[in-house]
Amino acid sequence: MRPFRTIWTTEDRFVEVIDQRKLPHEFEVVKLVSYKDAERAIKNMTVRGAPLIGATAAYGIYLAVREMIENQLDGSFIDQAFQELRASRPTAVNLFWALDKMRNSLDESSDFLSTSWEEAARIVEEDIEICRMIGVHGLPIIEKIAEKKNNEPVQILTHCNAGMLGCIEWGTVTSPIYQAHSKGIKVHVWVDETRPRNQGSNLTAYELTKHGIPHTLIVDNAGGHLMQHGMVDLVLVGTDRTTREGDVANKIGTYLKALAAKDNNIPFYVALPSTTLDMSIRNGLTEIPIEERDQNEVKYITGKRSDGQLGSVLICPETTSASNYGFDVTPSRFVTALITERGVCNANESGILSLFPEFQLT
Ligand code: MRU
Repeated sequence: MRPFRTIWTTEDRFVEVIDQRKLPHEFEVVKLVSYKDAERAIKNMTVRGAPLIGATAAYGIYLAVREMIENQLDGSFIDQAFQELRASRPTAVNLFWALDKMRNSLDESSDFLSTSWEEAARIVEEDIEICRMIGVHGLPIIEKIAEKKNNEPVQILTHCNAGMLGCIEWGTVTSPIYQAHSKGIKVHVWVDETRPRNQGSNLTAYELTKHGIPHTLIVDNAGGHLMQHGMVDLVLVGTDRTTREGDVANKIGTYLKALAAKDNNIPFYVALPSTTLDMSIRNGLTEIPIEERDQNEVKYITGKRSDGQLGSVLICPETTSASNYGFDVTPSRFVTALITERGVCNANESGILSLFPEFQLT
């Protein structure tokens, strides 16, 4: 049976991933046999989501080492692979974290092939455990709300996909939701469709369906209205990079949800694997690079046509130009708390350091 992870290795020691661009309509697996394949998969969003981008890049380095050995190339080939993978997407910091981890382990090794294979596998296993623990620490937040709801479902609004598809298993946002559901707590998720790539409608709705979690798809602009009418108990989103002072970069549109949540006194939580912390920067607005993507992602919508084939349609005049910022930054003052693998903390430096003292500046 095929393991239901988002990335796995094959018997011939290559790497496979799900082609997420085709979900939810087609489940297609893509084999990565070179670092260029890994780079392409990250760039064109065959894989996406901060932790999965990191894991794919880590295996990209393993593949580069293998290519170097098999083709008797010199070490500059590996350096080139590091450089190109680093440039594949700019915002999610897990990419750089994973590549630094791979570099450090290679620097200390004389057996590059087994070191890179083992280190990439460790990154994958670590992510699974981190996500499971985010669920353990996030669950009491949902339980507490459930106690006051008289057997009515806890209403959770989420943006983008911070589910298992963005990670390896569990997901970050979905981990507490899945764990609450397993405990018999009633939950219902409002899923923002998340234009332009529709990770909400294509991916979050898909995995919630697979897990049997009640959910409803909404257009990106509906959240504020739902919040004003008491239809949301908490907002729970993921992150691609969180600064030392708790500013949170996440998929474009997250900030507007945070503003609406604040205005309506609704808790706004961020599920945060420590691998997404960037403790080298403080101010998210000025220091986090925001990815700008191809305008055609805005001008066209992709989906399943009535003839059953996947296809794209143009939704504006051909000559209209579009801007496509991939992420925005929610300042820490709008974040109720961060849910991490070590517990829940305030979105500020002292909160983060209370759980992660190893990041204390000396
Ligand atoms: O552009 P994407 O699909 O890579 O953006 C993903 C997100 O914004 C996720 O919410 C974030 O990476 C957290 S994934 C656990």
